[in-house]
Amino acid sequence: CGIVGYVGRERCVEVLMQGLSHLEYRGYDSAGLALQGEGGIEPIREVGRLENLGRAVAARNGHLSRMRAGIGHTRWATHGRPSEQNAHPQMGGRGTVAVVHNGIIENFAELKAELLEKGVRFESETDTEVMAHLLAERVEANPKETLRASLSAVLGRLEGSFAVAAVSVAEPGVIVAARHQSPLVVGLGEGENFLASAVQALLGETRRFLVVENGEVVEITGDSVGIFTRDGGPVERESFEVDWDAEAVELGVYEDFMMKEIHEQPEALRATLAGRLDAEGRVDLSETGLDLRHVNRVVVVACGTALHAGLLGKGLIERLARLPVEVAVASEYRYADPVGDENTLVVAISQSGETTDTLAAVEAARYFGGKVLAVTNTRGSLITREADAVLLTEAGPEICVASTKAFAAQVAALDLLALELARVRGTVSDDELLSLGRDLRRAPEKVAAALALLEGKTEAAVELFEDARCSLFLGRGPAFPVALEGALKLKEISYIPSEGYAAGEMKHGPIALVDEQCPVVAILGEGVLREKTLSNVEETAARGANVVAIAREDDAAADRVGRVVLCVPDAPEILRPLVWSVPLQLLAHDIATDRGLDVDKPRNLAKSVTVE
Ligand code: G6P
Repeated sequence: CGIVGYVGRERCVEVLMQGLSHLEYRGYDSAGLALQGEGGIEPIREVGRLENLGRAVAARNGHLSRMRAGIGHTRWATHGRPSEQNAHPQMGGRGTVAVVHNGIIENFAELKAELLEKGVRFESETDTEVMAHLLAERVEANPKETLRASLSAVLGRLEGSFAVAAVSVAEPGVIVAARHQSPLVVGLGEGENFLASAVQALLGETRRFLVVENGEVVEITGDSVGIFTRDGGPVERESFEVDWDAEAVELGVYEDFMMKEIHEQPEALRATLAGRLDAEGRVDLSETGLDLRHVNRVVVVACGTALHAGLLGKGLIERLARLPVEVAVASEYRYADPVGDENTLVVAISQSGETTDTLAAVEAARYFGGKVLAVTNTRGSLITREADAVLLTEAGPEICVASTKAFAAQVAALDLLALELARVRGTVSDDELLSLGRDLRRAPEKVAAALALLEGKTEAAVELFEDARCSLFLGRGPAFPVALEGALKLKEISYIPSEGYAAGEMKHGPIALVDEQCPVVAILGEGVLREKTLSNVEETAARGANVVAIAREDDAAADRVGRVVLCVPDAPEILRPLVWSVPLQLLAHDIATDRGLDVDKPRNLAKSVTVE
């Protein structure tokens, strides 16, 4: 879900709608605004995409354009199906307060029962409405109390995770907000101030932000911003600058964000390697402040695409630094009984830096005292404050739900870490390390070459998917995580059931799926694994599979197994996973758009999931 708040000038609706459009990727089953007008709070809510809300706003007469304060929300349903009643803002009392909320109130059923007993009437199935009524009740019972104090009092009764913002008829020109687990930032302006669940919402409005920490309450007006503890003590917070441009959240010449972000990979790689890898190939990760000498084990925790980046990292760290690496699904790890000690390096990978499962896995690793390195794309995100050290990926804001450039940047960051671990441990000779470093420096160039080579080349492969019932993505060694990621991309945005499998393991089960309607995408790879993969793929071709082979330009054998071959440029070993990923991203994109689907906002998903 996404939250935006604005107070200041007569441009509230414009700022809120623009902010929501930048956040729409975080949830898009309904959206709404609550505007503070002279006659009270005016709520507007619509089911479906933001454009529906835009139409509803336009249909109301022009008085909305004079509003100076309000809150907005775009929703990814947790409690209650997507409907207008369940959309936010939720109103409390008789419309005296309005609340928008991200997260889940775990004890909402008890609180709701209590309110029902008192005769409160509910209009939605949401947990948020409970909060709205509690706040209204508190405000009405304590007319002398500030809205902020009332909110603080209500927060004490809530269990779960939330970022919440509220307005009240009793305090025009004031927005209050609070955070517990779900992200929230304040944007600083001149004669106006902003609130949002992510900085992306406010790009183009301000570059100066304050992070709101767990347990804090915020009060903003047109010319003041205050952060407080729950019991009302003022909090000093330094602002931080975000150097992302507003263009980064605009489409520009591209038809969708996914295609734009696929093409931004060379730049994401360049920016991620910059300052960390010099021309001679020397890695410098001193910015993390971590002493890696005593690391005896690495655990990677992550979800989704970040997990696949972690699997690639495992391969390289094990090979170069000779350290055992465990890659754990964050949502499992948090409830496992993790093994480790203070010499375990925990690498938590998260584009958003706010994924609840990943944060909880970090907490689980605290039990054995492991040092936590966060690899994240979001400055100021929660994970940067929970971790001992941070390695920022510099992919710029990623809007498409399906991750592409952030994945590339994560892989590059892990490559750097692998080289650094190998250096510290002396497991690779200096010359070889420098040579690997110089190879890694070519990542932007090689990915750009892959993009150029593949431009407009996917059509024949897309055709093989026209009647696809399911599909298999196969690879071995470093191509296996790439296959997993390729399958995830395709299923996320095209809804074709797709499995990534180790090519050699395929004959032990998934081969039963293979027929003409189950295309196989095979990353052939290089060296001895290429030979093995070729044999595995032939086994599927012999059973009628239509094979799309991902192969090096001059690989003659590829034509033998592939109905279609998608060629990638030759690249140094360390760069191959990045290069192989490009055709898989383009293929997923083109299959989904061929089916008329919205690739940026696949159904049911959200860009960052801040619930368990
Ligand atoms: C969600 C998204 C995935 C993403 C995962 C992890 O499930 O739909 O695309 O990979 O979260 O996100 P993170 O921000 O932690 O990298």
